[in-house]
Amino acid sequence: MPYTVPKLTDFSVAALDNAVRELLSAIQKEKEVLVSEASEPSVASSTKTTGLKVFRDRWLARKNGIVTQITEFWLKVAPPDAKREVGQRVNAVKAEVERYVAETQQRVEFFARQSAAALESVSRVDTDLQALRREATRSELERGRLDITLPGIRRPIGAEHPVIKTMNEIVGVFRNLGYSVEEGPEIETDYYNFEALNFPPNHPARDTQDTLFIAGQESKELRDRLLLRTHTSPVQIRTMQKMKPPVRVVCPGKVHRNDALDATHSPIFHQVEGLAVDTNITFCDLKGTLDHAMKALFGSSVKTRFYPSFFPFTEPSADVQISCIFCDGKGKRDGAACRNCKASGWIELLGCGMVDPNVYGFVDYDATKVSGFAFGMGVERIAILKYGVDDIQLFFQGDVRFLEQFG
Ligand code: PHE
Repeated sequence: MPYTVPKLTDFSVAALDNAVRELLSAIQKEKEVLVSEASEPSVASSTKTTGLKVFRDRWLARKNGIVTQITEFWLKVAPPDAKREVGQRVNAVKAEVERYVAETQQRVEFFARQSAAALESVSRVDTDLQALRREATRSELERGRLDITLPGIRRPIGAEHPVIKTMNEIVGVFRNLGYSVEEGPEIETDYYNFEALNFPPNHPARDTQDTLFIAGQESKELRDRLLLRTHTSPVQIRTMQKMKPPVRVVCPGKVHRNDALDATHSPIFHQVEGLAVDTNITFCDLKGTLDHAMKALFGSSVKTRFYPSFFPFTEPSADVQISCIFCDGKGKRDGAACRNCKASGWIELLGCGMVDPNVYGFVDYDATKVSGFAFGMGVERIAILKYGVDDIQLFFQGDVRFLEQFG
């Protein structure tokens, strides 16, 4: 309830003091409310000054203000012997009320000025901006350059390239087994790419990796000639040169072969190499590791098969086949022969073997104490199978419509 001036009937000193206290506590509260409202930055400065005027009139208006009312209701009606006491108090109250109003006015006006300034700067920035925009739009329109019916510019979100994505996935499987990652140069010497991997000069095994040599090196010794590495196996040698056993590494990277391009061949592709050398590593470890890796990549129902093969740097060597993921190893799909595995039920996926003791001779490992296995797989080949891509060229053409499907 807002304060109203009581009509006094009891003019004792105690009753008078009580009435004065009530009045002063009322104005104190009203002042607090008003100042706290004025301190709100979101309230308009005009609202603040209007509130102040209402407050001032309520207490000090000559006609019917509270100070005028106490003269009427307290002083004029007081009995003659109480006039002195009442008069003193009315004067004191008047002075107090004026002080309160002055203080309130000062505080509220301060806040009102703040809101006004803030509003002004905001609207100034706003108008400047609008003017600039109008100006820019008008001149663009006038010059006929701006077609406002065109859709806006959307920046597409990039996606990991499917080859990199697959490579990371393969590396991740082996990282989980405790393998670390090693990398090597894409331009290699004949020594690292062939000789140290037990490919003797002129050995026919070199022919299986149709090599791109850097031109003009005929004067160099064969082992020093530079070439684009044809596989990631040279990283095995580089790793064993700088690390003593035990070694467990995977080596992802780009390789090159002078192959004519078709749906399954590209002169540039990627491999992930693996190497584990320790005491007592057996072919059994190799089988278990690769069986696990194939299940991790293609699903736990996939079976693996090891087929005799040949690489100069492994002995024995094997090709790993997985049961065909398209026909579940049946060789037949929808009553017809499965095209993906040529009806065999198996897909050949990678090469592997036990590291040939001759290789240890090149890196100063004691072939009587250590043994190990190595494997190498083509990343594109795995990506093609995993994602059902029918042409390896799609990976290298940079067509966003293809690439964005892997986002
Ligand atoms: N480097 C071989 C190739 O590219 C693959 C491989 C790696 C085979 C490691 C056995 C061991 O054909």
